Amino acid sequence: MDKLELAKIGKEYINQSPYGIFDFRGSEVIVLPTVFPPTYNTPTISELIEGLANNCLQSKNQCRVFEMGMGTGAAILTVAKMKGVVASASDIAPMAALNAKANALWWGVECDIYQGSLFENVPEGQFDIIFWNIPFFKENPGGIDEVKFRAGFDPDYKYLTQFLADCNNRLAEDGHILLAVDYEMCDLAHIYQLIDKAGFNSEVCQEINISWGAMPVKCAFLLLERK
Ligand SMILES: C[S@@+](CC[C@H](N)C(=O)[O-])C[C@H]1O[C@@H](n2cnc3c(N)ncnc32)[C@H](O)[C@@H]1O
Repeated sequence: MDKLELAKIGKEYINQSPYGIFDFRGSEVIVLPTVFPPTYNTPTISELIEGLANNCLQSKNQCRVFEMGMGTGAAILTVAKMKGVVASASDIAPMAALNAKANALWWGVECDIYQGSLFENVPEGQFDIIFWNIPFFKENPGGIDEVKFRAGFDPDYKYLTQFLADCNNRLAEDGHILLAVDYEMCDLAHIYQLIDKAGFNSEVCQEINISWGAMPVKCAFLLLERK
């Protein structure tokens, strides 16, 4: 199937995205309407970030972790439970900001949550770990202007390009970035080019096979550090 066909399916998926209360690694999480459900690659991201935060806490007594596009907040709020982690996150979708705040309150977890595009409303400062489960599609199937479609669509990877440029100021000297991508929906060649151009090296630190609706997909997690 070509990418534009997949993008049309992705658009339908976002239109009918399920909401309610879901299990997330053994905890219940609220998923509000139009917010990306954390049931696919999100549990693996949060496990990987826990591992990175643990490494960071071997040499520092505080680890600053930031999630771009936190959706329900399930991943960052899980990591925020770790002693020594100072967590924050931002999302372009107001419903996601509301959702993450609700889950933080429900779980009794401290996390600064902002709403805005990329780092625009995030106070100055640097992070030891920055991660983003990126919107996979760079295609524009049309009719994706509503903010809920930002969960899956970033036409021409405009936001990803800016995000990587912003990370140059936002990432601490020896910090790491983790990006969640996949082999079917993303344009990985383009993503590797953007990473390189922004001055980072990357390696695949894990791959998982999951199903997306009825479709099997292979996801990867890219670990970036400064060249
Ligand atoms: C694939 S979803 C991931 C949601 C959540 N992190 C998870 O893993 O369950 C991508 C998220 O990025 C957010 N996003 C897209 N473009 C953004 C931008 N320019 N600034 C901030 N967040 C953005 C979307 O609103 C969405 O919540």
